[in-house]
Amino acid sequence: MNRHSPAPTPPAPPRSVDEITASRRLRRMRKADWSRRLVRENHLTVDDLIWPIFLTEGENRREEIPAMPGVFRLSVDLAIREAERAAGLGIPALATFPNVDMALRNRTGAEILNPDNLINRGTRAIKAAVPEIGVITDAALDPFTDHGHDGILRDGVIVNDETVATVAGGAVLQAAAGADIIAPSDMMDGRIGAIRDALDAAGFQDVAIMSYATKFASAFYGPYREAIGTKGLLKGDKKTYYLDHANTDEAMREIEQDLDEGADMIMVKPGLPYLDIIRRARDEFAVPTFAYQVSGEYAMIEAASANGWIDGEAAMLESLMAFKRAGCDGILTYFAPRVAEILKG
Ligand code: PBG
Repeated sequence: MNRHSPAPTPPAPPRSVDEITASRRLRRMRKADWSRRLVRENHLTVDDLIWPIFLTEGENRREEIPAMPGVFRLSVDLAIREAERAAGLGIPALATFPNVDMALRNRTGAEILNPDNLINRGTRAIKAAVPEIGVITDAALDPFTDHGHDGILRDGVIVNDETVATVAGGAVLQAAAGADIIAPSDMMDGRIGAIRDALDAAGFQDVAIMSYATKFASAFYGPYREAIGTKGLLKGDKKTYYLDHANTDEAMREIEQDLDEGADMIMVKPGLPYLDIIRRARDEFAVPTFAYQVSGEYAMIEAASANGWIDGEAAMLESLMAFKRAGCDGILTYFAPRVAEILKG
């Protein structure tokens, strides 16, 4: 038997790299800066940036936020200076978030219905001083409630429809103050349609809606809650209204619904842990798509950078390019002025 078995075939000689790659060597175009630039698929420009800023009462106040080094709560007079700086850098828009006086917060967030609340005073002052910059206002109750939730709390439940009516009223006042884009961030059902109707009825057909369409219940909002003073207030979590972070199909249903109700632009929030949602949204809906690189994402990069564990500037730019690659038209980022300075060269 052994005599009849074929001689063992000798091992094939190792293939050359040319044989393995069939001469397709992808390193060729990476060999120099000029060739890398030539084939670069995505670009980050100042036009991609929306700068979220925090407002606070008083004058000439610039308060540090410990978990967000380099980010400050600004009194309106100083916010105007920053708006001028942003416009000078070519940043298209600001998004404002108010740190409301605790005495003005209550169970229903009624202060959102004050035409002269902090957010509206901020908008009026910024639009008067720097009319060329876009102002995006946050339409949600959490800065105004004494429990830190985005909705009216009754018997332990966030009541949807009453919240929607209040937020829609607040949105009209934000538009009246000069907001260019209303950004509802509370994930209540039906809020986009209600806000659109309310804006139109009040004559604000040209005020756009950027929906926080897919806002996930997330641990990455921690530093923000410190910034607007909801950290110590919030009891429980927001899982009955924000999306479960395990879900993708449900996120697409939220986007579809918000577009049907009249959203002009959609946002994915947080950003970097949700690039799959951004890509899928872009592919399925092809509408103006934004991401919010939230406070916790900012804090992580800053903290690692401060420890010398990463190159903070490189990580910042790489993280922002990731959003472009995933299909974003723009990014809300606390890095906006720093990036704009770098891009300006
Ligand atoms: C709530 C709101 C949140 C953020 C902005 N508006 C989340 C929250 O407090 O639950 C987060 C922004 C950030 O973390 O940078 N309407």
